[in-house]
Amino acid sequence: MEFERTVLKRRMVRHFTTEPIPSASIRRMLDLAQHAPSAGFSQGSAYVIVTRPELRKKVALLQGEGEYSKAGFHGWISEAPVDIVACVSEKVYHDRYNESDKLDDEGNEIEWPTPYWFFDIGAGCMIILLAAVDQGLAAAFSGITDPPGMRRLLGIPPHYHPVGVISIGHPAKDKKSPSLKRGRKPFDEVFHYDGWHATPKK
Ligand SMILES: Cc1cc2nc3c(=O)[nH]c(=O)nc-3n(C[C@H](O)[C@H](O)[C@H](O)COP(=O)(O)O)c2cc1C
Repeated sequence: MEFERTVLKRRMVRHFTTEPIPSASIRRMLDLAQHAPSAGFSQGSAYVIVTRPELRKKVALLQGEGEYSKAGFHGWISEAPVDIVACVSEKVYHDRYNESDKLDDEGNEIEWPTPYWFFDIGAGCMIILLAAVDQGLAAAFSGITDPPGMRRLLGIPPHYHPVGVISIGHPAKDKKSPSLKRGRKPFDEVFHYDGWHATPKK
C-alpha cells in the first residue's frame, strides 16, 4: 500500500476477528521496527511478543481490559492474535552516551535536553502501527499503567520500562474512542512557518 494511504488509514482499532496472523507477517513488522532511528544509535528499545492465549489474557487483565469492557469496548487486547509489549531502557542510553565519541568537552555525559529514549520507542511503535496497516491488518496502542506488574508477568529486566502494548489483528467493527470527538486541530494551530507567531503560509 502506498505510504500516504497507509498513514491516513491508520487508526487505533479496538476489535479484532479470530483470524490468526502468520508468524512471517509478525516477523516482517518487527524487522521494520528495528529500522527506527535512535539517539546515538543506542537502540535501547526492546519488544516482548505475546501470542499464547493464556498469556494474552494476563496482559489484557493488567491493561484493565475489564474496565474497558464495562465502558462498552470489545476485549481487543486478549482477542488480538498478537500483543507486542514495547519497552525501553534509559540505562542503555546513559551507557552509550558515556562512550568516548559522545562525551562533552569536559569528558562528561551530556545534559539530556529531552528523554530521547521515549522518543525512540515512540518511533519504533509508529513503524509497527503503520506496518500492520500496510499488511491489511489493524492495531491499537494501550499505555501501560502498571510497569512493575508487566515486568513481573513477562520477565522484563528491571532497567527496561514497558511503555505500551500494541495489539494487532484483522480488524472488526469497533467502538470508537470518545476522545475522537475532540476533532483534529486546525492546521495553523499545529504548524508555524518561520517562527511561532509569524503569519501562516496559505
Ligand atoms: C502514547 C499513547 C497512549 C495511548 N494510550 C491509550 C490507552 O491506554 N487506551 C486506549 O484505548 N487508547 C490509547 N491511545 C490511543 C489514542 O486514544 C488514539 O491514538 C487517539 O484517540 C487518536 O485516535 P487514532 O489513533 O485512532 O487516530 C494512546 C495513544 C498514544 C499515542
